[in-house]
Amino acid sequence: MAEGSRATRRETLYALAMSVFGCGLAVGNIGCTAALSEVFAEPNESSRKLVAYLSRSGNTRVIAGQLKRTFSADIFEIRTATPWPEDYEEMVAWASRMRESATPPRLAESVSEIKEYDVVFLGSPIWGTALPAPVRTFLATHDLSGKTLVPFFTYGCCGAGSAPETIAKLAPRAKILEPFSLKCDQERDTLNSVKDWLRSAEAQL
Ligand SMILES: Cc1cc2nc3c(=O)[nH]c(=O)nc-3n(C[C@H](O)[C@H](O)[C@H](O)COP(=O)(O)O)c2cc1C
Repeated sequence: MAEGSRATRRETLYALAMSVFGCGLAVGNIGCTAALSEVFAEPNESSRKLVAYLSRSGNTRVIAGQLKRTFSADIFEIRTATPWPEDYEEMVAWASRMRESATPPRLAESVSEIKEYDVVFLGSPIWGTALPAPVRTFLATHDLSGKTLVPFFTYGCCGAGSAPETIAKLAPRAKILEPFSLKCDQERDTLNSVKDWLRSAEAQL
């Protein structure tokens, strides 16, 4: 991935602000969506909003924080009951096992009063071109019937993959708005760059 094509955290915030507050100057793959404007246009301004998100390396968390501030929303971090491995390679292997597993991981906590919310922003990175298993657990264990569901994704290279379809399948009675997807830094690229740097330093010895 070319350095210049990556969205930095600052760009992420800028891009989100543009998608929320206006059109035309948007960066990356973000444009104006009639979909999000529906949330602004809600007649009932007292509708309660929740931002539920999963994030390992922080990209999705930045967007979740901006949504929380913009909409005065409550925020909920999707965490697994047993934390995933710290080490990147072990974590990738764990995510892959979870993707194949018939029993998705349990969550550390649930949203106690999910029925109180009218709008749920659901944020997730893309893992293995799919929706991460813990986010599937979230959808399987929270009834989003009748709610407006606004998905947002961050990914490293290849877009949202099968995640939108999975959300549609697991939240069949929610009103799902057009997802927001943003290309962000990927830990794999950072690790590879450091590897190259170390290799070249070693070659000079
Ligand atoms: C286990 C794992 C699998 C990933 N698989 C993909 C993938 O299939 N496609 C992709 O574009 N990015 C992939 N990525 C990159 C992340 O989606 C991307 O870096 C995302 O912005 C991370 O969000 P976060 O910082 O909120 O955790 C993967 C990252 C991890 C850790």
